[in-house]
Order: sequence, then C-alpha cells, then structure tokens
Amino acid sequence: MAVTTGQLRQWKQDKRPIITLTAWDYAIAQVLDEAEVDLILVGDSLAMSILGHQTTLPITLDEMIHHASAVYRGVKRALVVCDLPFLSYQESTTQAIHSAGRVLKETGVSAVKLEGGYPAIVETIAQLTAIGIPVMGHIGLTPQSVHRLGYRQQGKTQEDADRIFNEAIALSQAGVFSIVLEHIPSDLAAIITDKLPIPTIGIGAGNRCDGQVLVTADLLGLTKKQPPFAKSYVNLREIITQAVHNYAKEVQEKNFPQ
Ligand code: KIV
Ligand code: NA
Repeated sequence: MAVTTGQLRQWKQDKRPIITLTAWDYAIAQVLDEAEVDLILVGDSLAMSILGHQTTLPITLDEMIHHASAVYRGVKRALVVCDLPFLSYQESTTQAIHSAGRVLKETGVSAVKLEGGYPAIVETIAQLTAIGIPVMGHIGLTPQSVHRLGYRQQGKTQEDADRIFNEAIALSQAGVFSIVLEHIPSDLAAIITDKLPIPTIGIGAGNRCDGQVLVTADLLGLTKKQPPFAKSYVNLREIITQAVHNYAKEVQEKNFPQ
C-alpha cells in the first residue's frame, strides 16, 4: 500500500520510526522503494553529491523536476517529496505556488519541501497547503542559507533554540505534514518532537525524532566529503573501483568476453 501523509502521522502516534532517504534517479529510487524506505526525498543535496556543485544553490527548478520525474517512475510504495530549490519560492507566494504546482504537475510526486521558518515563508506555506499542496518544512541548518549560516549546528543558544522551536510551531500551524530538523541539539529536537502533532524527521538532530533521514550518497559511501553527522553503511567507491579494476584486468588479459 502506498504511504500517505496520514500514514506518517499515524506512525508518529504508534512510535514507529519513519525511514527516510534521498534519491536522484530511477534506479536508486527503485532499490530504495523495494527496500521499503517510507519516505523518499528528491533533495537538492543532489546538486552537490551527484552534480558536483559546491553548494545546493545552483540547482534549478527544471533540473529538480528532471530528477524528481525519474525518481517517481521508480517508486510504487514510498511517499515521494521534492525539494523546491533556491530562488524558486522565496520571491513571493505566487512564485512558490507556480513552482510547487509545476513539480506536482510535471513529476507525479505528492509533496514539496521548502526551507525556513521565518514569517514570510510560513505565510507562503500556509497558502500552499490551503490550495491542497502537501508541504514538508525544514528548519535548523538550512543549506540554501549557507552564505549566512555556514554548515554550523543551529539552536545552540537559548535564544536561537527558542526561535527554532517557535518556527516549528508556526510551520505546524501553517499545515506542513512533517518537518525536517537538521543539525540542532538533540534535546531541542526532542522538545519539538514531543510538542508537535506531526512527525519530525531528523538529520544530525539526535535519536528522539519521529524518523531519520540520510543523504543516500553518504549512506552508500559515494561522497568524498560528508557532514560529521552522516554515516556510511557501505563504501561503494571502493566496491566500484574494485569492479572496474576486475573488468579492466579481464579486458587487458583478453578474458572478457569469453
Ligand atoms: O537535500 C537534502 O538531501 C535534504 C535532506 C538532508 C533533508 O534536504
Ligand atoms: Na535539501
């Protein structure tokens, strides 16, 4: 059965952790879906891990749509969410509706994710949810703000923790179905998780969120540089290198094809 936003909320109540990973194309999405990942995010981190950019800022809406369409074709069960990239939603609510609408119309995915919890973005998100577009929030470390925030942990002072807590409440009231909490203290993430009726998905936010997300390229050991909170469960760089060497050797020795 396909995963819905209602199902995610039920899993929060049941204390059943929500398994989330990112995907960027058809093949990887199919593997993750068949492995029963609950929520698949077409994250704009693919700008860095897959396209080789220095930050997530350069990726365009057209590029995100290209990747999200491919991911969607590979998924039968998981809920698929697509990031709106930098400058495809911050200009105005009209721009956000247009961008989110294009993602839903042109890719088939069910929801979009927008970064930030400041008043103007909360207003925009309330408009999106009002017209029937499911939205996921993302607060704490928001990589589209790297030039202001860097990649440092957020919410370390009481003042900043209070701000992030209030952003979470405001986003929940604006109708988001879930919120990503990135790189904040685990005590703060736990307080937000306990307070909100909707599930929190953590990355670098401790183990008391309702679910966890990793960038799949990090999980697979495809990325050379990883954030301190990422974890590789396999080193695909090594495995691919070995496979390529084996192939090269067989070609050199005229053992392939037989
Ligand atoms: O782009 C991304 O991969 C993300 C997750 C890390 C939440 O936004
Ligand atoms: Na992202």
